[in-house]
Amino acid sequence: MTGIPVVLDVDTGVDDSLALLLAARSPALNLLGATCVTGNVAVDKVVDNTLKVLAVAGRGDVPVAIGRDQPLLEKVVSAAYVHGEDGLGGLNASLPAPARDPEPVHAVDFLANLLATASEPVTLIPLGPLTNIAVLLRERPEAVAGIHRIVLMGGAVGSGNASAVAEFNIRQDPEAAEIVLTSGLDVTLYTWDVFTQVTFSATEAAGMMGSDSPSAQLAGRLMDFMLRNHDDRTETSIGDAGAVASVIEPEGLETRQWPMRVELTGTWTRGMTVADQRPGAWVHKESAWQPPMGNLVSVSTAVDVERFRTLFRQAVENPADPE
Ligand code: BDR
Ligand code: CA
Repeated sequence: MTGIPVVLDVDTGVDDSLALLLAARSPALNLLGATCVTGNVAVDKVVDNTLKVLAVAGRGDVPVAIGRDQPLLEKVVSAAYVHGEDGLGGLNASLPAPARDPEPVHAVDFLANLLATASEPVTLIPLGPLTNIAVLLRERPEAVAGIHRIVLMGGAVGSGNASAVAEFNIRQDPEAAEIVLTSGLDVTLYTWDVFTQVTFSATEAAGMMGSDSPSAQLAGRLMDFMLRNHDDRTETSIGDAGAVASVIEPEGLETRQWPMRVELTGTWTRGMTVADQRPGAWVHKESAWQPPMGNLVSVSTAVDVERFRTLFRQAVENPADPE
């Protein structure tokens, strides 16, 4: 298999499913594995959903590993009200049983072993709370050498979704996010600000459902669920799949490099990703109140909507298996 070597860390999740379908079907990526974490729903459901979605995509060969069932410190808050009780918009039971079992090792060890033996550095694409990735960085620091970059869905510079200022993946495990953002690794955030922009209409979802491709059919059904269950929506976002698209076609995502830290203590701001957008000279200045934030990360500021829509649809509708 050729293409950019990637691992998805998922909390599948309707839009994580769209991300898995894109990663599994794109000839530009070499999907080496999927690691699972509690987020949208509990990790056991995440694992089952992930195995089933990969099987639909014709990629039952991709290893799936079970990761952390709890954030580092925060309590678990389910997002079943968005993704359905099964995390898959009620579609889990309608999908064929997966042919493969999850890996016999914990997701963190699976990742560490994979990173140690990969023939080239791997891009990690975390799409849920960052618990697995933070534990990997803390407990298996030797794995860092095998990481090319991290492109994660998380954070917000404008309004949040989990709170006024915090995005769900970061709010669910702020300490883990702070560990990842301050790791010194090459980190890009596909934030909530762009997450909502790459959308499909009900007509387009119906078109995918009518496709010959099982991946497109599932993508269409998942989008149909989102449109039916959220009265306020006439379009539905590909969500986490946008982060995968930005690895395939980085030119489709505009980013700025800013110092960024995660707010850990504020009553109303816990989980906020605070970007220091002041001019450079100010950013690095010591103040009487706090030290400079220090580390720089790349933060999404704009997305090429049509480019990512086309990329997604072509990948899931393509009947040929990626080589
Ligand atoms: C993020 O949270 C989850 O509900 C989605 O899967 C996405 O990763 C959006 O805030
Ligand atoms: Ca997710």
